[in-house]
Amino acid sequence: MTTSWLWRRFVGSTDPIMEMLSASITVDQRLSEVDIQGSMAYAKALEKAGILSKTELEKILSGLEKISEEWSKGVFGVIQTDEDIHTANERRLKELIGDVAGKLHTGRSRNDQVVTDLKLFMKNSLSIISTHLLQLIKTLVERAAIEIDVILPGYTHLQKAQPIRWSQFLLSHAVALTRDSERLGEVKRRINVLPLGSGSLAGNPLEIDREQLRSELDFASISLNSMDAVSERDFVVEFLSAATLLMIHLSKMAEDLIIYSTSEFGFVTLSDTYCSGSSVMPQKKNPDSLELIRSKAGRVFGRLAAILMVLKGLPSTYNKDLQEDKEAVFDVVDTLNAVLQVATGVISTLQINKENMEKALSPEILSSDLALYLVHKGMPFRQAHIAAGKAVHLAETKGLTINNLSLEDLKSISPLFGSDVAQVFSVLSSVEQYTAAGGTAKSSVSAQIEQLRELLKRL
Ligand code: ARG
Repeated sequence: MTTSWLWRRFVGSTDPIMEMLSASITVDQRLSEVDIQGSMAYAKALEKAGILSKTELEKILSGLEKISEEWSKGVFGVIQTDEDIHTANERRLKELIGDVAGKLHTGRSRNDQVVTDLKLFMKNSLSIISTHLLQLIKTLVERAAIEIDVILPGYTHLQKAQPIRWSQFLLSHAVALTRDSERLGEVKRRINVLPLGSGSLAGNPLEIDREQLRSELDFASISLNSMDAVSERDFVVEFLSAATLLMIHLSKMAEDLIIYSTSEFGFVTLSDTYCSGSSVMPQKKNPDSLELIRSKAGRVFGRLAAILMVLKGLPSTYNKDLQEDKEAVFDVVDTLNAVLQVATGVISTLQINKENMEKALSPEILSSDLALYLVHKGMPFRQAHIAAGKAVHLAETKGLTINNLSLEDLKSISPLFGSDVAQVFSVLSSVEQYTAAGGTAKSSVSAQIEQLRELLKRL
């Protein structure tokens, strides 16, 4: 049994299982670098406040540097009494430079320290995530530019609806992801407020220069209220919810591609690099990468739900419950980094099977175009829709496809049908009708590509 060296007022020692439950070092040692960064900035501010002499500051800084080296070389030895990364680093500092190490924590609390560390960590992580996300969007956009002439059925309710360009499909996912990128940017802005200097809850009693801390640690501003600063985890919730929405978009794209890769659809073939085989059925090629992307969406949402439950009902300021935040953040950061890179790999390596797409473009997919034909002849849309529906039904009863109905058959439904109706039955002329912004005509798909390329420069 051990007792923490951080306090001395207790009689006896802490229950070892309680200690295990309380220790976070296995998780939060990932904050080692940013913890040292925060301590260095704080030591400098202490010197300015007159708490540390120049020599003491130098001792502390060189000790912290040594610890940073130990972490990066993987030789830092965590010991049993290291409750968390903050205690571990300070314990080591004392071993290296002696009692002067005890001055570092003057006016600081682990409460403002931990939230500062987490924000520093997340600032770095979000930049990496954003880079991977932009790479995925770019991959979708550039693929859309190359394959703009490919047409396939579009679906609603997973039933064939209207013909669309393959690029329109790719861009639909790219556009959703640009919103995720913007959202992550917003989260980054909110993270960029420095809590250090808030102490346990009441603030800092040493007239510490928080502006100096801010510029040292490269934050945009300092927090306004110490009690709020040590307890708010809005930025964690916002990150996890932006991540959840991003994962939901990736899951939708994954699900589409899983369906398109079945032999029943056969629209796409995934690269072997992103699939697995079966130990039983030699013919199998399973889209594991996409299934994992789909499942990780559930995992990420689970992390969000867990943190919201932890926060719900907490009183003001720091409570140990908040320790749960880091595991969620680390897990989601790792998940996003992996998933985004795999998604980019899947998209850039999959093959499209144009013949299967063409084959799936059965004539009934042009039924709404038949209605549009009548609209152009002056018929009100509601009537035109009924007339086209009658044509679908007539073709069905005659065992024909809609394009094989004779002109007489069509004229029996509406006298407005003329011989020019034949031109309706072309998927190319169908997609080319959708020229309004955002539509699937070549001109508007090209415009989307141009707009996205411009947006990408700004994201
Ligand atoms: N390991 C703690 C955490 O992650 C650090 C803060 C501890 N503060 C305290 N008052 N016990 O939240």
